[in-house]
Amino acid sequence: MSGWVIIAGLGPGRESCITPEVMAAIAQATDIVGYIPYVRRIAPRAGLTLHESDNRVELDRARHALQMAADGRRVVVVSSGDPGVFAMASAVFEALEAGDATWRALDVRVLPGITAMLAASAAAGAPLGHDFCAINLSDNLKPWDLIEKRLRLAVEADFAMGFYNPRSKARPDGFARVLDVLREGCAPERLLIFARAVSTPEQKIDVVRLAEATPEMADMRTVVLVGSSQTRLIERAGDPIVYTPRSVS
Ligand SMILES: C[S@@+](CC[C@H](N)C(=O)[O-])C[C@H]1O[C@@H](n2cnc3c(N)ncnc32)[C@H](O)[C@@H]1O
Repeated sequence: MSGWVIIAGLGPGRESCITPEVMAAIAQATDIVGYIPYVRRIAPRAGLTLHESDNRVELDRARHALQMAADGRRVVVVSSGDPGVFAMASAVFEALEAGDATWRALDVRVLPGITAMLAASAAAGAPLGHDFCAINLSDNLKPWDLIEKRLRLAVEADFAMGFYNPRSKARPDGFARVLDVLREGCAPERLLIFARAVSTPEQKIDVVRLAEATPEMADMRTVVLVGSSQTRLIERAGDPIVYTPRSVS
């Protein structure tokens, strides 16, 4: 059989969120390639080789996957969530475009997964029920000035927002600056959702007003949702519901 590469999303955590077509691709694979914690979500079996690699080596990982497929292997590159959202699908295509011309003839496909911001939105209600945008707050691959510009424009346009990679040990201060920018453009009552480890046993959903938000509420296992000016809170016994109406008055 000739080789292929499938770049697949494993969803945010629990196995029932993995799509049947991703499960089928994994069942047919000879090799799984990915960042260590994602590869560890795959059950070992005879005939399947697991290739774990560390963060920040995405292009090496992508080239390895493409070369294995060129050698006739059936390779699944795994990402958490959706592979097209701040993840491996773009890295594989960057490697393919810059790499060996023969790689362009390979069978390369992307299988979607449930991305963290949509899983978090569902856990909280429907905060992304009207127009929204997603911003990666890591400045590893783009300058901080661009992040801040996009954030200010999103606030001005009154989008609901999802923030990926909000705060890491290497970037402890960036999220404090994000909160400052939000405070310049939004009312103190603006709703924020700190959704940590969504769809895992450690899931924690905290709904707070902007005035109460602190940088320490976010880490790298958290996706932060910011409501638009229209986003509403329904208080009730148990967890509140956060939703954004479908229309703007
Ligand atoms: C490199 S990005 C990968 C995003 C992934 N491709 C997706 O579609 O969800 C990693 C960031 O995604 C978010 N994330 C991923 N899984 C999550 C989960 N289960 N709960 C909350 N946030 C998550 C966090 O913001 C984390 O820092």
